[in-house]
Amino acid sequence: MKKIVCLLINMLLITTCSVAQLSVHKLLTENRINPIGLDERVPRFSWQLASNKRNVFQAAYQIQVFTSAKGKAFWDSGKILSAQSVFVPYAGSPLQSGKQYWWVVKVWDNYDKKPAVSDTASFRMAFLNESDWKAKWIEPGFAEDSVMRPSPLFRKVFSANKKILSAIAYITAHGLYEARINGVKIGNAYFTPGWTSYNKRLQYQVYDVTNLIAKGSNAITATLGNGWYRGIIGFKNKENMYGKDIALLFQLEITYADGTTTTIISDDSWKSSTGEILYSQIYNGELIDAGKEKKGWALPGYDDTRWDSVKITHYPINVLVATINEPIKEKEHFKPARIFTTPAGEHVIDFGQNLAGWVTVKVNGKGGDKIIISHAEVLDKDGNFYTANLRAAKAQDTYILKGGGEEVFKPHFTWHGFRYIKVEGYPGELRPENFTATALYSDIPPAGDFRSSNALINQLQHNIQWGQKSNFIDVPTDCPQRDERLGWTGDAQVFFRTAAFNMNVDNFFTKWLKDVSADQLPNGSVPFVIPDVLGQRRSGSAGWDDAACIVPWNLYVAYGDKRVLEQQYPGMKKWVEFIRNSSHNNLWNTGIHYGDWLFYSPDDDRDGKAAVTDKFLIAQCFYANSVQLLINTARVLGNTEDVPVYEALLVKIKQAFVKEYVTASGRLVSGTQTAYVLALNFDMLPEELREQAAGRLVENIKSYGNHLTTGFLGTPYLCHVLSRFGFTDVAYKLLLQQEYPSWLYPVKMGATTVWERWDGIKPDSTFESPAMNSFNHYSYGAIGDWMYRVMAGLDNYDDGPGYKHIKIQPHIGGGFTAVSAALETYYGKLRSSWVLENGKILMDLEIPANTTATAFVPANAVNEITESGAALIPSAKIKTENGYVVLTLGSGIYHFVVSKK
Ligand code: BGC
Repeated sequence: MKKIVCLLINMLLITTCSVAQLSVHKLLTENRINPIGLDERVPRFSWQLASNKRNVFQAAYQIQVFTSAKGKAFWDSGKILSAQSVFVPYAGSPLQSGKQYWWVVKVWDNYDKKPAVSDTASFRMAFLNESDWKAKWIEPGFAEDSVMRPSPLFRKVFSANKKILSAIAYITAHGLYEARINGVKIGNAYFTPGWTSYNKRLQYQVYDVTNLIAKGSNAITATLGNGWYRGIIGFKNKENMYGKDIALLFQLEITYADGTTTTIISDDSWKSSTGEILYSQIYNGELIDAGKEKKGWALPGYDDTRWDSVKITHYPINVLVATINEPIKEKEHFKPARIFTTPAGEHVIDFGQNLAGWVTVKVNGKGGDKIIISHAEVLDKDGNFYTANLRAAKAQDTYILKGGGEEVFKPHFTWHGFRYIKVEGYPGELRPENFTATALYSDIPPAGDFRSSNALINQLQHNIQWGQKSNFIDVPTDCPQRDERLGWTGDAQVFFRTAAFNMNVDNFFTKWLKDVSADQLPNGSVPFVIPDVLGQRRSGSAGWDDAACIVPWNLYVAYGDKRVLEQQYPGMKKWVEFIRNSSHNNLWNTGIHYGDWLFYSPDDDRDGKAAVTDKFLIAQCFYANSVQLLINTARVLGNTEDVPVYEALLVKIKQAFVKEYVTASGRLVSGTQTAYVLALNFDMLPEELREQAAGRLVENIKSYGNHLTTGFLGTPYLCHVLSRFGFTDVAYKLLLQQEYPSWLYPVKMGATTVWERWDGIKPDSTFESPAMNSFNHYSYGAIGDWMYRVMAGLDNYDDGPGYKHIKIQPHIGGGFTAVSAALETYYGKLRSSWVLENGKILMDLEIPANTTATAFVPANAVNEITESGAALIPSAKIKTENGYVVLTLGSGIYHFVVSKK
């Protein structure tokens, strides 16, 4: 009986499987699902194939674009015999400003004659012409308090008396805005319009607000915050970076069911006033006096006759760009893990996770009661609330109650980096249900998952992800807590590859790179921070501003997006030319350089052990790398005339390196780990000197008792270089080292994010200097890339970027019994995992449709391997190489078992 049931189940599986064949799904337009507000005139379409079969490839596709959900196609690509399923450009007649389009794709694979047809996706264009903007910039009509700078409020009432088909709002601000219709927040994004180099590129957002508009009278309102525009930013309490006045630009396009349209714009018919937000600064926090709230001001019936008028101002419209990256949203919520009184007698709440965001407070008290919420990342060694490392950032939200019932507070235009809050003035007992910490960050699609049999490494991965979440706030920032939070180029490039494993950062970085180009100086130098708020003289550091070449290339490798290379190529070339012009005899030995920032440097350095690497040696390596990436890019883009020019330059740069920094026996003048790592990673040494250099690196690591000593620039490549030269065992020792300096030292010290310094908290629980001691910096999290790419073995060949040609080569070792990683690629889910069980290696792979993988199975011979229970059949195509059997695989799920003979 049992047998029969099994048989039936099997038959059922087989039949269902054979019914479900090819399907096409996950339709993206410019990498987003049904985006609203594209100003890209040639949007690109991507889709994924799914099938229960193996080795599935796309044979052909046909895209149809419609101007309404039904009807005749506006553009029909026709059946195109092509495997391209990612970034297929629109090629119909020009798309219209503000219009919505729908599209479907039919896909034929290599098995079926019948195509799979997708569901319908849509996209809506933003404004494509300056003349589409009818709105006027408006500023408050009253004289602003120049010290406190309370948040201005704007208001406009209009009536809509017919049935509405659609209502689309286009909004931006100088400063930050929160807009509402009839009291309901438009969209669920925060800190809009985001941060760009405002005077060159100012983003606006487009919202479908059809459902917010009522028949009859409607109120549009907006509150502005100082934000990055005129709030304190950069060092030295500097304000008014982009201007001293904040302003709103608002346009609402209503289409009625009868086909008529109305446009409501910000103009002199609006009113202005102030409300309950009395003070707001990103670094310092917010002051809200609920008693000052203008009750009902966001609703149509409110009497605003005593409000001020507004001032019309003129700002350029040609800097306006539609947002392409994901907006900042409220993400995870945390309840208090512990509420306690510190030895100093302060009331503190621990949320258990260091994060960037804010705390929502519920309270019942009297009018005038004042609650102060202060934020901190850590407690000091006595268990007291520690804020010295926030430097000048006050990071304090103050709420004054209006009284008369439960009140709920959270700030609007600030965020804090914290795990703990100190609560002062709260009426009554601190109860967990009244405090919620919420993480805020750019709503970037999660992409990767990494886990292993080692709990400490899993915590490290958690910390890396939280370092990323806490710092991907519209721009990649260095830290979320102190008076900094800037788009440091070095940090961004160092962490990029890890970031691209954890999340799909394609649009996030494409947007940031546009600002890199916008802020690049005429001589090609790149500012240290982007958007540049430090000024023109702060630019040109090796390893920082090489981000201009490193990030675009890595973005291309991760996503296969050629357009980003086209967009960045002129800037890449300018950057390389800047270095060339700063060099003498092909040596980059001038300028300000941060060097191997925050490398291991013991206080008690009597035997001269500090790992100082010559800054110009570092610069030379990054010079070569940037030139190499420029050559790679020129090849991809077909800029063939540039290739030989830069190839010749690269030869000279490497020769100059060897002459200046390498002894005849192959020793580097700086004998540090970073020196060897960079020289090897960027192929600075002639072939014959590489092996001995790798040996010296290993010796150096041993001489430090299997500790790393690298800073920001050496760390990302350290384990990769070790693996490349056959020392993965040493890399594992570094990864698993628990004493300072190491990746696991902070984990052992209870970290929930990655620290800025290897020893932010010292073994005796004292702190590093508060002048620079963030507990939420992602740079050292760059090891994540090695964990995904080498431990789990998920990688990509440059000839098939974006995981079109996948490389899977796991590295077993380090005492791990299991490692697994998954990545959502544009083709679908890619997964690689290995488990050691009963002397066998179990290796599971999932390869998305329409890709090819070169898989390295850890075995010495084909006859050691079975796949899904069947012996692997030897063939001429299967190679054996350095302890791996190398297979070429098409899509599908594979289950290999290796029994070593
Ligand atoms: C930042 C860094 C940055 C560095 C440059 C620091 O203040 O936090 O992460 O790269 O300065 O030296």
